[in-house]
Amino acid sequence: MARGALSLLALASLLGVAFGARPMSDMEILSGPTPPVWPLVYEMEYTISLPYLQTLQPGGLKYPVHVWWDGPGRRVRYDFYGGLDSSGGEANKGTAWNLYPRIDALRCDASNGTVGPTALGAALEGLGLGEGVATTPLPDISHWTYAGTARIGNADATAWQLNDRHGEKTASYTFYTAPNGWPVRLHMMGLNLLTGSHYDEYVLEWTRFKPGPIADRFFDLPGPCQELLGAGPQDGDVEASGRRLAGAALRAASVLPSALLGGAGSLALAALRDSAASAWAANAALVESHNARVAAATSASVSSSASATSASEAGSGSGSDGPSYTLSLNHFGHLTHRQWAATSLGLGPRRTAGAGGKLKLPSGRPYQRVLRNDQLPTQVDWRGSGADGPGVKDQVSCGSCWAFGVVGALQAAWFQATGQSLSFSEQQLVDCAWEYGNDGCAGGYIEPTLDYVIDAGGMAQESDYPYLAQNGYCRGPGVKAPASAGPPAPLAAKFSGYVNVPSRDEGAVMEALHLQGPLAVLINAALPPFKFYSEGVYHNDACGMEPDDMDHVVLLVGYGTTAEGVDYWLIKNSWSKYWGMDGYARVTRKGNDCGISLNAVFATVDAQAAEAVEAA
Ligand SMILES: *[C@@H]1O[C@H](CO)[C@@H](O)[C@H](O)[C@H]1NC(C)=O
Repeated sequence: MARGALSLLALASLLGVAFGARPMSDMEILSGPTPPVWPLVYEMEYTISLPYLQTLQPGGLKYPVHVWWDGPGRRVRYDFYGGLDSSGGEANKGTAWNLYPRIDALRCDASNGTVGPTALGAALEGLGLGEGVATTPLPDISHWTYAGTARIGNADATAWQLNDRHGEKTASYTFYTAPNGWPVRLHMMGLNLLTGSHYDEYVLEWTRFKPGPIADRFFDLPGPCQELLGAGPQDGDVEASGRRLAGAALRAASVLPSALLGGAGSLALAALRDSAASAWAANAALVESHNARVAAATSASVSSSASATSASEAGSGSGSDGPSYTLSLNHFGHLTHRQWAATSLGLGPRRTAGAGGKLKLPSGRPYQRVLRNDQLPTQVDWRGSGADGPGVKDQVSCGSCWAFGVVGALQAAWFQATGQSLSFSEQQLVDCAWEYGNDGCAGGYIEPTLDYVIDAGGMAQESDYPYLAQNGYCRGPGVKAPASAGPPAPLAAKFSGYVNVPSRDEGAVMEALHLQGPLAVLINAALPPFKFYSEGVYHNDACGMEPDDMDHVVLLVGYGTTAEGVDYWLIKNSWSKYWGMDGYARVTRKGNDCGISLNAVFATVDAQAAEAVEAA
């Protein structure tokens, strides 16, 4: 891509939009066309696509979203994929709900304040119906500038632009509206002006817009939710249900045009001005102040280096020669920290014994060491090898890190045993592994997921069971899902068990990584700088290292020591190649490693299945 900012025309050609050459009339120049004001009540359907995903996840990702919005009535409903998963809330009645597939049937999490989880307030806030000002699904574009006319498809459209600049980072938004003022297309792109690289691109295309009153029945609680509330106080895990409910609301809101714009359109003008201090600007400021501190520390250390002795003697992050890393505004730039945390992590809270389902004590075998520490290589790096899998994937707006971490470990084990580099289906795990204690897009665990894979008889490939970034019906073996879910996906690989490497035993983790290949590990990833990590060795004294501090699952793919003598772990994340070093990161190894050495696991392949591959 060319360096520098894209002009609107370049942007237009990129998007296949033809701009009219019509000169503006005197009339327009004098008064200036003004952006449309959205109605207060409307129904709309649009698809949101993330073009950067297309290279890895088959078919890319195209979310169909259906929104019913009643601003004055303070109620909203979102359907995804034609109602496969839906969420809604009504602030005046004090109800919020989420309807989703769980293996083979629809389930509801709902609350009316007295019945259901206590997460009602959090859920309503997530849906944009919190106390105070409601967040509208469409952004307020009243202050955007006129940018000419365009043809979109076969129709005329008017373009409105907003360029949000912070340092060398700019976010460029173009909203196309129809002659009657209805939304047609929104294109959003973040650019780094220095490098010309983009870190963020979304395209939203409207297929339907209908202003005016909406019948009550669209906002009514769906049948299963009515039954749930009508049944009175619930047994079971009310806390988990509250977590799912609040998480689903934040996930739903995170694909709204206004949320993607950082602030959010708002009903009240005063609040609109406040939202100018948008998530994007706040995040850009965090990135810039961190990098300025790092640059200052580096130049200080250069000027005093004549008197410095050995760089490697620097303590854990205290000295200027210790670990340091830079941040970069990336595709999380538009999300608030809460939205980000609800959609980009996904390790469930620490499990308590006896919580129903097929939950069992982790059945991993203990690891047996075969090498002494002094026999280990100084560096291991599986990046780009067959064991590293097909590339860096993206969990998008679903707390499914656990599925990506486990798939990474399974891909590695399968390659080591058979030489076959396959891409396995994270969606199979999200949809099918509930009974083992997982919670779909609301979180999951490493070992219970591996228990599912072994019991189910194996893994389907990504191409047969593509990723949706939301809960779906299970198409794994032995499940009769509704016909609309599609046929069961064929299995491509079979596993026999898994091995737990001793906790916090760095030598053992290094050896397993060296001999077995990439390992699924836990990490404390929720601290704000980590989501904008760009390069260097991440070190954060605030990182927790206890089981309760863990919130994310990643794949451990290497270790080593930098030229400055800083020991690091190398991890592969599931936040796309626009995060970190093309999707990977270094984290300090000795001392605080944010929990990476706490719970490392690798899978073992079914011997007969491996032999069958070799014989073929
Ligand atoms: C919630 O639903 C229950 C059961 O239908 C009902 O008894 C209760 O009054 C409702 N509470 C509120 C605040 O609406």
